[in-house]
Amino acid sequence: DGIRRRDFLDIAAVSAAGIGGLAVVYPLVSQMAPSKDVLAASSTEVDISAIEPGQAIKAVFRKQPLFVKRLTPAEIEAANATATGSLRDPQSLADRTKEGHEDILVTMGVCTHLGCVPLGAAEGEVKGEFGGYFCPCHGSHYDTAGRIRKGPAPTNLEVPEYEFTSDTVIQVG
Ligand code: FES
Repeated sequence: DGIRRRDFLDIAAVSAAGIGGLAVVYPLVSQMAPSKDVLAASSTEVDISAIEPGQAIKAVFRKQPLFVKRLTPAEIEAANATATGSLRDPQSLADRTKEGHEDILVTMGVCTHLGCVPLGAAEGEVKGEFGGYFCPCHGSHYDTAGRIRKGPAPTNLEVPEYEFTSDTVIQVG
């Protein structure tokens, strides 16, 4: 009786391991990158007309979160008051926005450390010590221009390729 009971426990342990294995495999499969052709063809249009100063919207670009934020004059001032050369990833706000649209900051909502989605885009979310975005996974702080200022992330939030197709619509990708 003792032996049969032990066999059962071993089988149960193997089954559990099998299920665990499946759970690990699934996300790897779901993250398989589409081919370059598919990526090149996919773009996202975002209507920015309803975004108030200080507000951001979350969109999706190539299956990843995209933040589109309209900066307030104070946020623009804070970004421009920072000496670019002192930054880990030296870029000015002008480098990261389009001419004549310095108030519209378009970035991927993907922390450049290990890929978590930073907080700060939605109403009421913490924005971190530099007033932009804060990644809660390991504490990366991004400033009002989405530039890394503190924490482990190596580079600024990525600005994807985009253009204004009108004063109120951007096409990303
Ligand atoms: Fe954002 Fe590590 S993934 S700090």
